[in-house]
Amino acid sequence: MACESTYDEYGMYQTVLTLHSWNRWLALVLAVAATINAFLRTPHIIDGRPRGSKWDTCFMAAVDLQVLLGLLLYFGLSPYSTEAMNNPSGAMKSASLRFWGFEHEILAFGSMAAVRLGRIFATRGSATPETRQRRRIICFAAALVTMLAAAFAERRPWFRAWPG
Ligand code: HEM
Repeated sequence: MACESTYDEYGMYQTVLTLHSWNRWLALVLAVAATINAFLRTPHIIDGRPRGSKWDTCFMAAVDLQVLLGLLLYFGLSPYSTEAMNNPSGAMKSASLRFWGFEHEILAFGSMAAVRLGRIFATRGSATPETRQRRRIICFAAALVTMLAAAFAERRPWFRAWPG
């Protein structure tokens, strides 16, 4: 593939890819923690209003950071997405280009939407605490599953060495 030589170079691309690769673990650990927390507690009420937990906030922040790094890769740094955008129909014929150029992003944005929905269900609306809890569990579990698919459906290093 035309992108292989760029892939081997160190620099901005390798740095952002490595950060994106490591932050995946933070996001996954927080996804598990926030989902377990959602199982154990109903969204608590402070001053008469439902509040999200610290786990929800940390989980959402880690996913947002992951998406930000992903956008940098997608719209500038990654030879996979560049190749896929330049030749979408050709990219559909290569499993790897199709995954990094399209499928990975669909899964990632799906998981970002699920986290946000879970947070909205926990903190807004007039449903009972138990209903809000159930919806938050479903959304966070869906976010966890889609993140696992986004991160592990294509084989990549689990722990990428720091470039240098
Ligand atoms: C929940 C969110 C996400 C997770 C868990 C995730 C996870 C990963 C992982 C594990 C890799 C492989 C890293 C490596 O090779 O070491 C990767 C690569 C990549 N991700 Fe994500 N990602 C997420 C969101 C996004 C988003 C939103 C975008 C783009 C809009 C994106 C774009 C990319 C690109 C372009 C690559 C690299 C392809 C290359 O090797 O050049 N990611 N992602």
